[in-house]
Amino acid sequence: YTLKIDPNATSKGTYEFYMLKEICEQPGVLRHLEQFYLDQNGEPQIKAKIIDMLAAADRLYIFAAGTSYHAGLVGKVLFEKFAGVPTEVGFASEAGYHFPMMSKHPLFIFLSQSGETADSRVVLQEAIKRNIPSLTLTNVPNSTLAREATASLSLEAGPEIAVASTKAYTAQIALEAILAKALGEKIGNENARAFDLKTAFALAAEGAEQVISSKEKIEQLAQKFLLPSRNAFYIGRGIDYPLALEAALKLKEVSYIQTEGFAAAELKHGTISLIEKGTPVIALINDPLTADLMRGNIQEVIARGASVITIASKKLAVDDDDIVLPEINYYLTPLVSVVVAQLFAYYASKDKGLDVDKPRNLAKSVTVE
Ligand code: G6P
Repeated sequence: YTLKIDPNATSKGTYEFYMLKEICEQPGVLRHLEQFYLDQNGEPQIKAKIIDMLAAADRLYIFAAGTSYHAGLVGKVLFEKFAGVPTEVGFASEAGYHFPMMSKHPLFIFLSQSGETADSRVVLQEAIKRNIPSLTLTNVPNSTLAREATASLSLEAGPEIAVASTKAYTAQIALEAILAKALGEKIGNENARAFDLKTAFALAAEGAEQVISSKEKIEQLAQKFLLPSRNAFYIGRGIDYPLALEAALKLKEVSYIQTEGFAAAELKHGTISLIEKGTPVIALINDPLTADLMRGNIQEVIARGASVITIASKKLAVDDDDIVLPEINYYLTPLVSVVVAQLFAYYASKDKGLDVDKPRNLAKSVTVE
């Protein structure tokens, strides 16, 4: 897969929809971010002022909406693992009026592709009133959330036109990983020092490319299992749980198939009653700690008639897994798995004849509360 793309171009080129173009740009976005934010030795190059601000915090609070919120959930795992700093993630729309209890030295991180989401701005205004420092990660460097926060960093993903966010999610997770390493190193975290981001990004970009080159197979699976169904599930554990939430959002927003993302073992505590003969359940298996338990959870839904599609990383894969992902650092597996989910959503929508780039009732940027 060697297609070269200029991520700054706003034309669709040869792609039928922007969504597919933007999905295919992700390996390029990861490589660009690596060059933009890491030096030759793989060390983060982030302004000292920003790292000092992060290092002064006793707790990070991430606020966002939609897909950006899901990138925040992965960010929590990264900041806690590689910096050892407790991190909370909230919907901006909730935090604006039900402000969470604060630690002594909070730092707010806003994730926003557009930088214009009104719900996030309400929280930022409150932070300004309370003298809480803030950092916005956005794809639009001169946007409102970038200008009004204490500091901001660019996602460098290039213009995202399709309403359903794809490459901005990838860029948000990549930048969170860079910040987690930079912060962790600053405050002496062992995991941060050992985190070889340069290699991890290179493997993630290759992995995303491999997934893209298997898109015909993903389309066939979508046609066979998703198209005939009115509902579906994504299940995962560990880092696959926030991924399941994003995967489900992607599928439902563009294909109108009602989809739930679930922590795999929680299904049996109630929701498993929704599984019927033929209900598609897409299972993500990237977490070595819970891979065996995941296999058990898969058996539980198969026993109730579900049609299961498995997506497993190579080391954890068994012979009849449907999609096997190349081996990469566990903490960056969302960067590869999400591409599978985006392609499932894309083909489910396209093959139903829907307007993939402009799903009904949705706006790219929501500037009202
Ligand atoms: C809208 C879009 C979503 C997006 C969300 C947050 O609802 O339809 O795709 O994830 O806003 O947008 P932001 O620009 O703040 O990331």
